[in-house]
Amino acid sequence: MMDTMTVGVVGAGTMGRGIAQVAATAGHQVLLLDRDEAVLQEAMAFLARIQDRAVAKGRLSREASDALLSRIKTTQEVAALAPCGLVIEAIIERADIKSQLFSDLEAVLSEDAILASNTSSLSVTALAAGLQHPARFCGLHFFNPAPLMALVEVVPALQTRAGLTAEMSVLMQQWGKRPALAKDTPGFIVNRVARPFYGEAIRILEEGIADAATIDWAMTALGGFKMGPFALMDLIGNDINYAVTESVWTAFHYDPRYRPSFSQKRNVDAGWFGRKSGKGWFDHSEGAPAPTVREDKELGQIILWRILVMLINEAADAVFWGVASAEDVDRAMQGGVNYPKGLLKWGEEVGVDRCVKELDALRDLYGEDRYRCSPYLRTRAAQGRGLF
Ligand SMILES: NC(=O)c1ccc[n+]([C@@H]2O[C@H](COP(=O)([O-])OP(=O)(O)OC[C@H]3O[C@@H](n4cnc5c(N)ncnc54)[C@H](O)[C@@H]3O)[C@@H](O)[C@H]2O)c1
Repeated sequence: MMDTMTVGVVGAGTMGRGIAQVAATAGHQVLLLDRDEAVLQEAMAFLARIQDRAVAKGRLSREASDALLSRIKTTQEVAALAPCGLVIEAIIERADIKSQLFSDLEAVLSEDAILASNTSSLSVTALAAGLQHPARFCGLHFFNPAPLMALVEVVPALQTRAGLTAEMSVLMQQWGKRPALAKDTPGFIVNRVARPFYGEAIRILEEGIADAATIDWAMTALGGFKMGPFALMDLIGNDINYAVTESVWTAFHYDPRYRPSFSQKRNVDAGWFGRKSGKGWFDHSEGAPAPTVREDKELGQIILWRILVMLINEAADAVFWGVASAEDVDRAMQGGVNYPKGLLKWGEEVGVDRCVKELDALRDLYGEDRYRCSPYLRTRAAQGRGLF
């Protein structure tokens, strides 16, 4: 049933077009809807270019590529989605606009059709509350670019019927994805646990311990991360990254652990968004000299360890609060943001007791709640146990 159903994707922007590609690759007929005809045309041209590249590289035959593209049909009419067994929404991140779309969809879909949202920051439960049949709704949070990133966070609303998240997890596996079950809490797993990667890096910069290029070098060369935090913020866009931090911080009732930084805010104020504006933490203009890195291994280890221990603490706290299982937290950080290792596994490798001592030392030095050690880490250390 699930593998033959027609899948609707609403929003043909960055995420929607990628999700449409994933569903069509898995063999579904896909109906891709956007309110903007130009975006639909651009999305289809984009997908055709990606397929051409895959054919040129010998990853796919021309016939398979043509068949895949022919499975995706575009529309601007919600009524055209009537035959869909599942509709994934990936439109603008506005609760009121999403809710209007869901009520339009419910008017045309059959009662057993499943509705999902790709929201990054809204409460799935609050979105479900606007539906006539909220039991059929859940979050399916893909990562950018959707065809390449393995992770999908499956997020039940309070109202979601028993069994739906298990069905969605199986479907996501059939689509070649790695599902992780996440509680409906701000940032779900990845956007919560990843905060210190940016926040602690900025803090180290603000304290004058090292410059951005040196911090990036420590995280990549010594830590094995694919990109350093500053290069990544410049790629994501400081405006977007700042907005996510601010939204997680606000949603956590201003928990100091997630507090946004003034220096990133100033970058946003200046229009220094990153690559897309030519300047961010780094100068991206043509011919700009590469920043000099201080390749001091001792300093690098201090930087890496401080950011890493904050990440491990955040991962442990997500387990403590039941956001996800330890296995799913580790799977999420590897599959959603390409971390070189699961954070909890990393915590075990460096030593749980050592993590607790480091966090306590940071808290004592700064006297800030930001550095409080998760009860999960402290308890496990006291019991001499690992983190799984
Ligand atoms: N960009 C990311 O990295 C990322 C990652 C995970 C999740 N998300 C989430 O995915 C969703 C989409 O993000 P995006 O980056 O693809 O946005 P986007 O701006 O690239 O695309 C959104 C598209 O939705 C269309 N749209 C807006 N309102 C519509 C409506 N009422 N009906 C039909 N189409 C409509 C717009 O024309 C646009 O093409 C958001 O909820 C976002 O939080 C984004």
